[in-house]
Formats: sequence, C-alpha cells, structure tokens
Amino acid sequence: MHIDTIAVQALRGHEHGAVVPPIHLASTFELDPATADGTFSYQRGGNPTRSDLEAVLAQLEDAQHAFAYATGMAATAAVFGLVETGSEVILSASVYGGTFRLVDKVFPGRGLTGRFVEQLDTLTDEDFTEDTAMVFVETPANPTLRVTDLRRIIELAHAHGALVVVDNTFMTPVLQRPLDLGADIVVQSATKYLAGHSDLLAGTATTNDDALGAALALSQKTLGGVLSPFDSYRLIQDIKTLPLRIERQQANAIAIAVHLREHEAVANVLTPGWHGEAEAVIHASQASGPGAVVSFELAPDVDRVAFLRALRIPAFAVSLGGVESLICHPATMTHEAMTPQARLDAGISDELLRLSVGIEDIGDLLADLDQALAAAR
Ligand SMILES: Cc1ncc(COP(=O)(O)O)c(C=O)c1O
Repeated sequence: MHIDTIAVQALRGHEHGAVVPPIHLASTFELDPATADGTFSYQRGGNPTRSDLEAVLAQLEDAQHAFAYATGMAATAAVFGLVETGSEVILSASVYGGTFRLVDKVFPGRGLTGRFVEQLDTLTDEDFTEDTAMVFVETPANPTLRVTDLRRIIELAHAHGALVVVDNTFMTPVLQRPLDLGADIVVQSATKYLAGHSDLLAGTATTNDDALGAALALSQKTLGGVLSPFDSYRLIQDIKTLPLRIERQQANAIAIAVHLREHEAVANVLTPGWHGEAEAVIHASQASGPGAVVSFELAPDVDRVAFLRALRIPAFAVSLGGVESLICHPATMTHEAMTPQARLDAGISDELLRLSVGIEDIGDLLADLDQALAAAR
C-alpha cells in the first residue's frame, strides 16, 4: 500500500466497528494467575494504545520493530544507550543542538566519545577504529540542510562493524526511508512533522534488526521515557494527515526558496543540495523531495531583528514541522548549546535563520516575507 493509505488505514477492526482506535488508560492489567502472564501487564512495558501507534510507525517505516517515546530526545538517548562504555560515536557536525548537548555533556560521564566531522561523506576506512560503534546521521542536517550519502555511509560503517542511526525528523518516512537503504535504526522527533500541530512532544525509534529491537524494548521499559496513551492516540490521528501536510508544506517551501533566491535582501538560501550538484544528486537518489525547512541569511544591509519583528505570519519560535510557519535563529536558540567554534565547523553562521514553512496560503507567506524584508532595509 502507498504511504498515503497506510497513514490513514494502518489500524482497522476496532470494537463496535469504531473507525478510530479507543484510548486505553489502564496502568495495570489483570494477569492469568497460573502463568502471571497476559498480553499487557503494566503500562510502562506496553499498552494497547501505544502498541497501536507503534504498529502504525512500523508500517510507515517498513520496520519490524517500532517504539514510541515521550520526546525525540528520549528516543535519541535510548539509541545512544545501546553503545558500550569506551565506544566512539561519529556524528555530523551539523546536528540538532540537543543531540550536540547530549554528546557534549552526557557522553564523558558515560565513558563515551563523540566525534563530530564537518561532512560525513569525507569519512574513509582510516576514520574508523575498533572503538567506533555508531555513526549518527542527520540528512538533511539541522539547520544547514547539508546532505549525507546514506548508501555510502551505511556501507562504510557496516564494513567496520559500526551501526548507522539516522535522525529522519526533517524528512519523515513520507520523503525518505533510511531502513530501506540499510540503516540500522531510524529516530525521529515526532514532535515535528508526525504530530504537526505544535501541541505534542513525542519521539520514535524503528529498526528491522531483532537484536536491536529487543535491546530497545528492554531500555524503553526499563528507562521508562514512554509516550502516554493520550499522546499515543493523538499521534495516531495526527499521522493520518502527515502526507497531505508534507505535500502542502513542501510546495510552499519550494516556492519560498525560489522567491528568496531572487530577492536582493537575501544573501544565501539553504535547501537540500544548495552546497553543490553532488549533494543535490545524492539527495534526489535517497529522498523524494526537499522537505519544508528553508534556511537563509539576510543581505548585510538588512537588520535581522527588524525583519523578525516585522513578520506577521511566521512566529519567532523554536521547533518546526507544524502547520503554522515558525522562524528561528539557530545560533541563539536551537543550536546555542554548541560553542561558537562548533557552530563555525558545522557551517551555522550567526546570520543564519531557519524557516519551518507551514500550510498557510503561499501568496500570504510571500507577501509577508517581502514586506518584512522591505521594512528591515
Ligand atoms: C532533528 C531533530 N532531532 C531531534 C530533536 C529533539 O526532539 P524533541 O524536541 O521532541 O525532544 C529535534 C528537536 O528540535 C530535532 O529538530
């Protein structure tokens, strides 16, 4: 089935012919006294509503195992929890600031090393040691939209026995399916496109590997950062419109990128492939569209604060992926946990703005950007 159909039809056959799943709130479940067993026993270990959501996630990603967490960071932390003390994780320098903070502040206490490299596509055999346990990839990266060749990094890492984890938040399974390309685990901040309405925090992890699936199930149940039944239900409902929302948001983003590239008040526009033909070709080979985040730098004669104050539609706020457009300044917001040098290495300039394009009317969005750019010159 096509993903548009899966998003809506993944769960069928509810009691009473209900067309939406029920919400099961029970924290505990009656067990068979003979075996002390049952399909569910205690909500942290699993419950019918979270299971329903995890079944939808698995179908969307073509995955054997899916897990829903309270936040995207809980999913990322669970995945890093699979790495043994003494190991090294290689990451692209441009990653979500919270992931950077986890590596920077939490890894040392756990005896882990995080190595950030400017561009994962430059890695060769020599970069891997016997301690390299994992490569963590964001493609396109947040907020630089730099692209990593998934097929190449998966082949290289696997040749050295390292796992490949892809943070697919910017693409979602609608646009990119890293498990199909051989990635070991995909994580997402479901807070963003999957939920899509800026009113819910959630994270996901999916895998086709039974051993990794068992390890994630154990850590989910043991560490306990699980998604609640209410939020699991809401995410099931939100996912039904994911393909539609992505289609509209992406179309708006493409029109905005074209417009800003021609605007004399804008210096640089970053979308997947902006860095050069090679990255454009790679992105086209592994994803079916650019997504709906457009990063850009204003021309030197445009006052950034005046521009942001003049905008009427995009709210100046962190996060992305919702139906409403949001704009943020990564250097002081989403990526402030990085040192100035780390931001420089990652290509995140102090001038860079990140626009998460919503589903508003494209004429209104373009007119608003134009009037704010004019007001700020
Ligand atoms: C690419 C990416 N990964 C992970 C996260 C973390 O997700 P959450 O805020 O749901 O914990 C974010 C949040 O902005 C993100 O943009």
